[in-house]
Amino acid sequence: MKVPVSALYEKLLCLLPHHGLLGSLLNPCPRLLRQYSCSKTELVTATDLISYWKDVFEANEIPEAQASSEYIVSHVLGAKTFQSLNASNIARYFTLLFREQSLCPKRISKMPVQYVLGEWDFQDLTLKMKPPVFIPRPETEELVSLVLKDKYKKKKLSSACCRDIWQPPDPLGPVILEIGCGSGAIALSLLRKLPQSRAIAIDKLETAVNLTKENAERLQLQKRIKILHHDVFSSSWECLLHWGLVDIIISNPPYVFHEDMSHLAPEILRYEDLGALEGGHDGMTIIKEILNLAPYILKDFGSMFLEVDPRHPKMVKNWLHSHPDLSLFVSATHKDFCGKPRFLHIQKYKRRS
Ligand SMILES: C[S@@+](CC[C@H](N)C(=O)[O-])C[C@H]1O[C@@H](n2cnc3c(N)ncnc32)[C@H](O)[C@@H]1O
Repeated sequence: MKVPVSALYEKLLCLLPHHGLLGSLLNPCPRLLRQYSCSKTELVTATDLISYWKDVFEANEIPEAQASSEYIVSHVLGAKTFQSLNASNIARYFTLLFREQSLCPKRISKMPVQYVLGEWDFQDLTLKMKPPVFIPRPETEELVSLVLKDKYKKKKLSSACCRDIWQPPDPLGPVILEIGCGSGAIALSLLRKLPQSRAIAIDKLETAVNLTKENAERLQLQKRIKILHHDVFSSSWECLLHWGLVDIIISNPPYVFHEDMSHLAPEILRYEDLGALEGGHDGMTIIKEILNLAPYILKDFGSMFLEVDPRHPKMVKNWLHSHPDLSLFVSATHKDFCGKPRFLHIQKYKRRS
């Protein structure tokens, strides 16, 4: 995949450490400096560019240097991954190639690659990303999969013999409430996978609310989602009943213990909203508020799915034991791909009247 390099040569020189803006940012990368400075007739491949930026990132101690370089160069060339690039891509996007001039310095300033690209994939959706809105993490994809598995299981059960356990399914599909929607990753994936569902998504951060709205519109899901700028600690919760009581509450709340915050990667601390991460001294501040709210919002036998810290499943079980008035119980704990207890399935039982 060789790319001819006439006008390109000048631009490449600008990318090198002794030139322009980057000069002040980069540690030099002598091998490439020599390679790119020697001959104007040299051909440059996408692989060369990736290798160049990988070296620069490494020299600047940027984590995941190879992956970052591949993502940025491929993105500039119009592909998701380096493996999916082909020769015609390179020819077609050649004039755009040097957008990396503006993207790579952002990565060198330790901006997460998701913000650098301005988009990221979650499940089978491509979502817009914007600092400081929380970047969806891979384990949260498992949280979405758990809900889908549970819906499938319940559908099978309700069509068999257990009509006395589960309420008859709503012909309009489940109503889902997501607390702390960020970019909209969870709610929008569920809407896409459950075509008859409707969702309410709330976040206390206005930028997150706006980003979820933008993502919903880009994915043409806006008619089935109500997105609200709302704090879970607010005393008014009636607005959450836009479509009546809900079947499912789902949340990946801020759950990092206060004392663990300082151990987070510098990229996270510098760019992501810390209000999306910190859950108070025991990581439970928002979790407890969601549990307090749930009985007013959930249908009887409704489900709640939470992503938590591995220390939380025991703490939540104990806390619910001491709050029997909430009519909630932990029906299952699921492990993440690292084998850590990460997801809670909590259910509401029918209150005695
Ligand atoms: C860990 S992020 C999860 C974002 C998204 N659901 C995801 O998984 O990518 C937590 C989100 O909760 C929001 N949040 C924090 N405190 C909140 C509160 N009191 N009320 C509503 N949302 C809150 C944050 O703004 C943030 O967007």
